[in-house]
Amino acid sequence: MGKLKRFGVSMEKSLLEKFDNFIKKQKYKNRSEAIRDIIREKFVEQEWEKGKNVTGCIVIVYEHDVREIVDKIIDIQHKFSSHIISSQHIHMNEENCMEIIAVKGEVEKIKELYFSLKSLKGVKYSKITKATTGKKIE
Ligand code: NI
Ligand code: NI
Repeated sequence: MGKLKRFGVSMEKSLLEKFDNFIKKQKYKNRSEAIRDIIREKFVEQEWEKGKNVTGCIVIVYEHDVREIVDKIIDIQHKFSSHIISSQHIHMNEENCMEIIAVKGEVEKIKELYFSLKSLKGVKYSKITKATTGKKIE
């Protein structure tokens, strides 16, 4: 963390009360740490818009009995192997599997990988978590 600088913020009493309530629930020790995190989140979102290098995590839940779905999921991941750091397979129950895929690289490629998996027949749930390499934020 770099040198800290203080600044004053004015806002409506009711908004501040809501904010204090929110940060209490989120277990923040003080307003400053909460504000820093919110600002960082905005910068991470920007990284994902600007076509930079990012990291993230893709989660899919699918029915493994659906025709060729397992092969397709493997084929797609091999096609994007240079953008995948690791993947973890979990047999959830009789019908369903979950795959957690850590990804890294150009935003466009990551999105292409995500949409390729998400659109497969048999995929019941999919989510991408947008993280950051950490280089662009303090
Ligand atoms: Ni493989
Ligand atoms: Ni499985």
